[in-house]
Amino acid sequence: LNIGIIYGGQSTEHEVSLRSAESVLDALDKSRYTVSLIYISKAGEWLLADQSDKIEVLKNGENGVSLSILPSRQFISEKGEHTLDAVLPILHGTAGEDGVVQGVLQMMNLPYAGCNVRSSALCMDKDMTKRLLKMEGIHVADWVLCRHHEKDAVDYVAVKEALGLPMFIKPVNQGSSVGVSKVTDEQTFQKALDLAFEFDTKVMIESAVEGREIEVSVLGNTDPFVSVPGEIVANTDFYSYESKYIDENGAALEIPARLDDATRERIQKTAMDAYRILDCEGMSRVDVFLQEDGEIIVNEINTLPGFTSISMYPKLLEASGISYAELLDRLIILSLE
Ligand code: DAL
Ligand code: MG
Repeated sequence: LNIGIIYGGQSTEHEVSLRSAESVLDALDKSRYTVSLIYISKAGEWLLADQSDKIEVLKNGENGVSLSILPSRQFISEKGEHTLDAVLPILHGTAGEDGVVQGVLQMMNLPYAGCNVRSSALCMDKDMTKRLLKMEGIHVADWVLCRHHEKDAVDYVAVKEALGLPMFIKPVNQGSSVGVSKVTDEQTFQKALDLAFEFDTKVMIESAVEGREIEVSVLGNTDPFVSVPGEIVANTDFYSYESKYIDENGAALEIPARLDDATRERIQKTAMDAYRILDCEGMSRVDVFLQEDGEIIVNEINTLPGFTSISMYPKLLEASGISYAELLDRLIILSLE
């Protein structure tokens, strides 16, 4: 099969995508797949790598040829036509994880791994995700949505009364905790709002949940497989961008999470329910909080979760008996269903 890896992208998670794509390229079985590397630069240009053995080769948008697309599973470059059988969109965040790229691939009639346009778009929007989950009886943290034009009218005292302290302020459409702050008083509240609005026109103010951070990998279409849960043990104030990717001691992953059987099963069922409510396909990582009294609060659903060989999504599947290489095979097969 001719498989494309699409990576890079215009989002703030561009660098995270490079790391994810590096691992994917390494692990794909080259005796079965002919791999094309398709890089989306930060400026949004689509480039095809001259050589397909190095992710880094296109990092700065050099060494690639420009691509146009056709509705016949084809990319066109000055070197000719390239027909693919399926692609792995290894992109995180805006214009990659939110349905935009999925829509382009749909128009090309090119099968792609992971969620469809609708579920990608819904899960990227944390406010929409929570509304749908809440409607279906899944517990989520209380929150207040704030649009850019309402920013100056936000009343700190009223929000504090509604949500309590501390609270989190997040851009609605971001990943990897970019633009997220923990708020403890009025001063940090204003700063956090300003920061979040740098990344989005919709911002959410969320009640902080006390609890263990547990994540579950879900893989499949109509009858998905749910992995063992894993736990994030953050050594920082919260599981921030730095603790995820920069500070080596920022967070540890406990795989599997230490849970009794009944709690593990409840978490797995909640993850499966959330996956189905949001109409997910292919894969997603469902992130929850487990409170001391046993209550499970869904935090979010990541349709293109971090994908390096040491990331939570593949690690949880590995701990459940599906190796990284097999995971890629399965995602390709699922995309062709
Ligand atoms: N947004 C990052 C990649 C994650 O959810 O793992
Ligand atoms: Mg996320």
